[in-house]
Amino acid sequence: MKLIVQPASVPLSGALRPPGDKSISHRAALLGGLARGTSRIEGFLAADDTLATLHAMAQLGAAVSRDGDRVEIEGRGLQPPERALDLGNSGTGIRLLSGALAGHPDLYGSRITLVGDESLSRRPMGRVIEPLEHMGARIDSQEGRCPLMVHPRPLVARQHRLKIASAQVKSAIVLAGLHAAGETVLFEPAPSRDHTERLLPAFGVQPVLAEGRVAITGPVTLHGAWVCVPGDLSSAAFLIAAALLVEGSTVEIGPVGTNPTRDGFLRAIEQMAPGCLTRQSVAGDAGAEPIASLVVKGSGALIGLAFPTEWVPLAIDELPLLMALAATARGTTVIAGAAELRVKESDRLAVMCRQLARLGVRLEERPDGAEIRGGPIRGGVVDAEGDHRIAMSLAVLALIADAPVIIENAEWIRTSYPGFVDDLAALGAILEWQ
Ligand code: S3P
Repeated sequence: MKLIVQPASVPLSGALRPPGDKSISHRAALLGGLARGTSRIEGFLAADDTLATLHAMAQLGAAVSRDGDRVEIEGRGLQPPERALDLGNSGTGIRLLSGALAGHPDLYGSRITLVGDESLSRRPMGRVIEPLEHMGARIDSQEGRCPLMVHPRPLVARQHRLKIASAQVKSAIVLAGLHAAGETVLFEPAPSRDHTERLLPAFGVQPVLAEGRVAITGPVTLHGAWVCVPGDLSSAAFLIAAALLVEGSTVEIGPVGTNPTRDGFLRAIEQMAPGCLTRQSVAGDAGAEPIASLVVKGSGALIGLAFPTEWVPLAIDELPLLMALAATARGTTVIAGAAELRVKESDRLAVMCRQLARLGVRLEERPDGAEIRGGPIRGGVVDAEGDHRIAMSLAVLALIADAPVIIENAEWIRTSYPGFVDDLAALGAILEWQ
């Protein structure tokens, strides 16, 4: 489907509550299904990706009921599913489930097939298969890609040194470690999102954490928990960016998770648009996650940034959006050390560079990043190439183009933020599906 966005003619204004955090919703659904007893999840993200994980847990034997963003999930022990588990577009779903199932004692002797859509079937799975095999798992793949076939069997606890800062790989190992006898230890090269570590204690398991090190002693049984999922900073980022770009805008967004392993986008904005963002911490229980309310005042004037490479894992999902903002900023923005973007839902470096160039942006694509010179944005036709975050990044940038922008293949927005178009419209933007 095409999304048509008109240049904004008035400042954006209003207050919005972003949808539930995608990463935390996946984890809550998964842990709830693995646990014995009933878990209650509030603020669950009802989007294609997270619903795929929830559905997979139901196929594995959990009793699931959902009313909007409230989910009740009763874990009763796992059973082999009758059909393949389809994780759709979701790398988090398939990688975390691979870890959770690899050594699950209820499933010994069965074979479980995990499939995904075309985009997911292109993405590398060796990064989870290899460490799980190191623990004794057996996972068949198509040369490191899905479909995957997991053969659950007993695992042994091991030490792992991760080569990339990936929360999906880290979480897959931790979830496998729940069933491995002894201490599973992993060392991260740099901090990646730590939602699994923060959520496990609610389910009765305490990982041992030190800088760059996570340890978990198995086997353990999880018990049901109450989880309150905070708003998703990665979704809120599009609203923040829209407000920053359209001069004179004032938008309140929150409450939203501001976990320091996720806030690279906010750090970048504080430098690209000094004084435009106010964060106000909110007290509350969101599964040990920090939450805040944000106020954004748009000056329409951004400054280019040499994006620090150590922030890359902290803003990994927001880098396409930062590239869009860089396209309008004064001066040059340099992003480096971000080759991981090439193995996301699309090759986000190549796709963003291709599409920004169609809107008249001067840039140079690099193997691990890009150099982007800010300037005026032309209207025209672009292609999100089936990637939700590219579609939303281009939609936000289109607000300050000199003519309407038509974004093709944008319907994948539903995988993470089904209400995006309505939310942006509620702030005063003019955009519609065609
Ligand atoms: C996620 C981890 C990140 C991120 C993805 C969600 C998670 O992926 O890009 O959208 O929930 O663990 P990597 O682990 O591949 O960096």
